[in-house]
Parts: sequence; C-alpha cells; structure tokens
Amino acid sequence: MPTTLITGANRGLGLEFTRQYAQSDWDVIACCRNPDDAADLQSVAEQLGNIRIERLDVADHAAIDALASRLAGQAIDVLLNNAGIIGPVPIPEHIGRQHFGQLDYDLWAQVLRINTFGPVKMAEAFLSHVAASEQKKIVSLSSTVGSLVERDTAAFAYASSKTALNKSMRLLAATLKDRGIIVSMVCPGYVKTRMDFGTADVEIPESVAGVRKLIDEFSLADSGTFRRYNGDVVAW
Ligand SMILES: NC(=O)c1ccc[n+]([C@@H]2O[C@H](COP(=O)([O-])OP(=O)(O)OC[C@H]3O[C@@H](n4cnc5c(N)ncnc54)[C@H](OP(=O)(O)O)[C@@H]3O)[C@@H](O)[C@H]2O)c1
Repeated sequence: MPTTLITGANRGLGLEFTRQYAQSDWDVIACCRNPDDAADLQSVAEQLGNIRIERLDVADHAAIDALASRLAGQAIDVLLNNAGIIGPVPIPEHIGRQHFGQLDYDLWAQVLRINTFGPVKMAEAFLSHVAASEQKKIVSLSSTVGSLVERDTAAFAYASSKTALNKSMRLLAATLKDRGIIVSMVCPGYVKTRMDFGTADVEIPESVAGVRKLIDEFSLADSGTFRRYNGDVVAW
C-alpha cells in the first residue's frame, strides 16, 4: 500500500485528502497541530483504520526534524504540503494588515514561516522517506494568488508566501530530478474552506478528487509545474 503524509489534516482540504486517500486504501500519516482537538480527524481515523495521527506544527522546525526521525525507515510516496494560513480570521476584519500602508510585518513573517518555509523544511526533513518510496512525489498546495501573471490580489503576505513557495519548489524540482523525485505545486481552486471570503465556488470533495487525480498522473516530466485542480496549467 502506498503512503502519504499530509500536513494540516484536521480540517478543510487536509481532512478530505486524509479521508479520500484512506478510502482508496493508502496508509495516511495525518499531521495536525492539536490532535486532542481534532475530533473530525479522530472520527475519520476510527472509521477508516489506516490513518496514523501525528502532532505537527509546520512552523516548528525542531518538531519537523523529530517527526522525521521518529518515522525513519518509513517510505512516503506522496509528501503533501497542505497546511497553510491566509492570515488571522475572520478574514475581512484582518485583511487590512496585509495591505500596503497598514502592513503588519510580524504577521507577514508568520505567513512566510508557515506557507513557504514549512513546505521546504518538510521536503528537507523527509527527503530520505520520499526517496525510499515507489512514487517519490512532493506536492505543495499553492494558489494562483501567488502567480505574477494571473492574479494581482493585494494581500502582500499571503500572495508573496505562495510566490516564494512556487519558486522554492521549482528550484527543488531541478535539484531532485536526477534522483527521480517529482516536485509539483497545485492550486485547489477557490474552495469552501475556512479560507473562503464568501465567494468560493468549489466544493471540498471536488477539489480534492481533482488534485488527487493530478497527483496520481504526475510523472518526472511534470516536475516543477504548477497546475489547477482541474488539470489546467497555471501561468505564473
Ligand atoms: N481554500 C482555498 O480556496 C485555497 C485556495 C488556494 C490555496 N489553498 C491552500 O490550500 C491549503 C489548505 O487550505 P484550506 O483551504 O483547507 O484552509 P483551512 O480550512 O484554513 O485549513 C488550513 C489547515 O492548515 C493547518 N495549519 C495552519 N497553520 C499550521 C501550522 N503552523 N502547522 C500545521 N498546520 C497548520 C490548519 O490547522 P489548524 O486547525 O491547527 O489551524 C488547517 O488544518 C493551504 O495551503 C491553502 O493556502 C486554499
């Protein structure tokens, strides 16, 4: 059975990835910040069985290293960097802190730490686990908001964190190609999760099914690419 490790697995897209992969008979290492408060994840794990829950805050590099050591010898076919923040909620109340003229630089640093450094640190720490697997895939949830050509959303922190994530993952793709490791970015669409400003038009199961299909189809030729959940290439 293939194995995936998913960050931010307690709600939103991460919870649905966990459910769908487990239903497809994958082994899932479902990571979340607070397993004790993750009632939905606990209940999916009880129902489906092949889910191992691990505590992980992707802003905590020592914790990432500790989990990688604990899982030494465990092959991971798909490292799924899903965890991310748009900023404090409710979004409309706080989004001004990401707008020029009122920028909150501490908030920007925190968004970069979670959305950009987190996935890169995960890739560093879990490289040997991915390299030991059959599928060898590192996939990060990004956003068209990070594209330099498709969208100009004024949220400096969130947008730039995804731009930097894309560039970092593109560099990683080139770095790891000789080892047969596939590194890709996927935009899940504007999905009805806690990141929804009220106008999201994609249901969670539809988005996750689309992203999973893409991940299944990824080959080394796709390494370094950025696609939408429906398969479209994102210009970035
Ligand atoms: N929804 C969209 O329209 C959309 C569009 C483009 C890209 N994305 C990307 O898709 C990914 C999943 O987002 P979502 O829509 O499912 O949002 P969500 O419902 O807000 O879920 C975010 C998840 O990330 C976790 N997380 C946040 N900070 C973390 C940290 N420091 N360590 C570990 N986990 C952390 C959250 O855990 P807690 O419960 O502990 O906070 C939660 O499980 C994100 O990377 C997001 O940027 C979403």
